[in-house]
Order: sequence, then structure tokens, then C-alpha cells
Amino acid sequence: MTEVKDARLTVDGSTIELEIERASIGNDGLSVSNLLRDTGLVTVDPGFTNTASCESAITYIDGDQGVLRYRGYPIEQLAEHSTFLEVAYLLIRGELPTESELTAFNHRVARHMHVHEGIKTFLGAFPRDAHPMAVLSGALSALSTFYPESVGRGEYEIELATVQLLAKTAVVISYLQRRVTGGELIEPRPGGHYVDEFMRVAFSGPDGELDIDPIVRRALDLLLILHADHEQNCSTSTVRIVGSSQANIYASVSAGIGALSGPLHGGANEAALRMFDHIKESGDTVEQFVAKVKDKSEGARLMGFGHRVYKSFDPRGTVVKRIADQVLDQLGGNNETFDMAKRLEEIALSDDYFIERKLYPNVDFYTGLLYSAMKFPVPIFTPLFALGRMPGWIAHYREMMHDPKTKIGRPRQIYTGVVERDYVPMDQR
Ligand code: ACO
Repeated sequence: MTEVKDARLTVDGSTIELEIERASIGNDGLSVSNLLRDTGLVTVDPGFTNTASCESAITYIDGDQGVLRYRGYPIEQLAEHSTFLEVAYLLIRGELPTESELTAFNHRVARHMHVHEGIKTFLGAFPRDAHPMAVLSGALSALSTFYPESVGRGEYEIELATVQLLAKTAVVISYLQRRVTGGELIEPRPGGHYVDEFMRVAFSGPDGELDIDPIVRRALDLLLILHADHEQNCSTSTVRIVGSSQANIYASVSAGIGALSGPLHGGANEAALRMFDHIKESGDTVEQFVAKVKDKSEGARLMGFGHRVYKSFDPRGTVVKRIADQVLDQLGGNNETFDMAKRLEEIALSDDYFIERKLYPNVDFYTGLLYSAMKFPVPIFTPLFALGRMPGWIAHYREMMHDPKTKIGRPRQIYTGVVERDYVPMDQR
């Protein structure tokens, strides 16, 4: 891409110069902040397909080349060598931790895993079949009321809220799983390994013991790493916009959970698995289902396909498919569905409809199958995404708080309603 040197806009014969904001890599930006003042015009960009809402030094994506880097480190290297809490540290603090820094961070998170009895009562007040994402959003917002010492924008409060959120989100999700499966809630053990404790509290029987398969432990750690951040996606932008009003971090991530729950975003992992089941139950062939998607008459989309930014491949999807291959091979998961998913992918990737629109499998196409092989209940799939994304949300909230350019998020609109009319009394309508 050649570097743009200068940019001008001519409106009704008057030309104004637009400032260019330089990126260290990727698209530079055209600053339009003074456009309204200088021309009386606002910009229009539904879905923010062309709008940079902030500067950020956390995550870089090149959607054409399938590149994803956290703080400059390629996702493939982090997936191979790192652990989830190490990646969380990297995203939040900006640098990889030394061994002693990581040990201290792991201990600090482990010490905060227990949750207040009131939170358990709160979780118990929801219907057992309530969707866990709705309960999770409420529970994370409620944390601020149980831990008021971590509410605030000072350095101490934000540090405390950071570890509280990483630690307690894991246990709340484990509890949500126990509510789905009908088990009693058990206490996390202080000082345990993060992923092990998460799995033990989610899966163990009443004696609280769980023999964790190392394949499952590593697969889950990897999946959390792959989900840890994705720059200004829908839920992260939600966290930022809520936080821009100086709402506390718990309220901000709680709103992010709401955004993540939608099937076009994090909810796609659950939706993709339900889609595979639907194809099997309907008796349609994979070819017939793809024909229905292309036809659009039934409104069906190929869930787990397509991405706003990735237009060649999603590098996370490539890693997930590889792990799914290994895990399903070794654990003997639902190979029939996996084979169907692979066939669906193959057909879509060679079909003009998907090729022309640059639609490729995203991270969510295979994750549901993988979670299912690891014995997670379907309603817990999207909460698992939330657990992975938590470090990213925290990192963005903190970055935004420290950025002097941060302003309250408040878009404009193009008003298309009635211009003005007089009130009509009830008896004359
Ligand atoms: N299946 C079939 N057609 C699709 C799909 C799909 N999965 N995704 C996009 N299209 C089509 C659209 O119908 C549209 O076609 P048209 O040009 O004939 O109107 C075209 O491709 C462009 O689609 P948009 O919706 O404009 O693309 P956008 O960038 O707004 O949406 C999104 C991206 C939401 C991810 C979309 O591809 C989608 O709905 N995918 C399925 C849901 C999904 O997997 N979401 C997870 C995303 S990754 C994540 O959040 C972790």
C-alpha cells in the first residue's frame, strides 16, 4: 500500500485539508473530527466499516493476509509457546512477563478465585435454564457491589479489578456450568492452576476431585489464548464506549458480554454447532443446505463463516481446526459431525458465492465441535469465549482510560423523521 501524503476535501467549492494519522503498520487514518465545524457535514458509516474509533497499541490484524498479533507477537507463536495467563499479562501490561512476574501474577489471580456468598445466591436466583450469557452479564456487573474497594479509576482499584475479573469470571462460568448440569457449587482451591481450577470447579463430582486430561487442559488453554483479543470488535467497542462515560470496568465488561452473546459475534460458536445438528436432523445433504444459504430465502447463514476484517483466512480458525483434529482423534469426539463440518467447509470454499464475498471459516466454525468433544454443555460455549476475551476487554478499558484523546463515545445521526408538527389532542386523532 502506498503512503498517502496529503488529503483534501472539496465541499461546495471550498477545499479543506484533512489531517492524516499515521499507523505504525496497517491503514493510516483520515481525521474528520473538525468536519462538522468546518463544513456542517457529518460522516456516515453504518457498522463502522471504515471508521477507526481510537488509537490502540494492543492488537494488530491484517485481514487480507490473515495476520493476528498481540503486542506485536504473532498468534501462532503465542499459541505454540505461551499460556493463557501469560498472554493476559502481555495484553494488559504490554510486555511478556519474566518468570517471577508471571509466577506472582498467577498467584495473585489464584488468590482471588473465591466468590462472595452473595454472588452464589445471585446465580441461584435465575431459572436453571436461563441462558448463561444473560446470567454472566448480570453477575459481572454485580461484582462491583460486592467488591467496592476495586471500583474506581485509580491505579490501585484498576489493578484489583483486573485480577478480580480474571479470577472470578472463571469461577462464575464454572458455577454456571454446574447449574446447567445440576451439580452443587464447590469452592475453588486457593493457589490452584487457573485452567485446572476452572475445569475442576466446572466438572468435578461432589468429592471435588477431577482427573484432567492433559490434552483437554492444553486445548482449553489454547482456545482461551486464541480468543484473548481482537482489536475493535463489537464487544470490545462496546466495553470502550460504556467505559468512555467513566462507567466502572465491571459495568463496561458486563455490557461487552451482552454484545458478545449475539449469534453474529461470540454466539456464533453455539449457533454453528446447532446448525450442524439442524442439517443432520433436517435430512438435507450438505449441498442442499449450502444451496439454501445461497438462496437467502430462509435467512440462513453459514454460521462460523465470514468476518468483517479477515478476507483471506482467519488464522485462529486454522489453529482451531488443527487442535480439533488432534483432540477428536485422541478423545474420540463426534467425528461424524466433524466430517460433516469439513465437507461443508470444502464445498463453501470452492463455491463462487463464498469466493466472491471472501467468506472463510472464522474462529467459531470448529470451536463448538471442540468444546463439545471436551464435554462442555452447549450453553457454556459462548461464556468460554467471554472467559478468553476478558484480558482483551480489560486491556482496552485500561488503554482508553490512560489515553488523553479519550472522549465520551457519542456518534451523530442523519435524521430522517418528521421535521416538525403540532401536538394533536387525543379526541382529534
Ligand atoms: N453465510 C452466508 N452469507 C454470508 C455470510 C455467511 N456466514 N456472511 C456474510 N454473508 C454474505 C451476506 O449475505 C452479504 O451478501 P450480499 O453481498 O449478497 O448482500 C455479504 O456476504 C457481506 O456480508 P455482510 O453481512 O455485509 O458482512 P459483515 O462484514 O457485515 O458481517 C459477519 C460479518 C457478521 C461475521 C458475517 O459474515 C456473518 O454473519 N457470519 C456468520 C456469523 C459468524 O460466524 N459470526 C462470527 C464472526 S467471528 C467473531 O465474532 C468471533
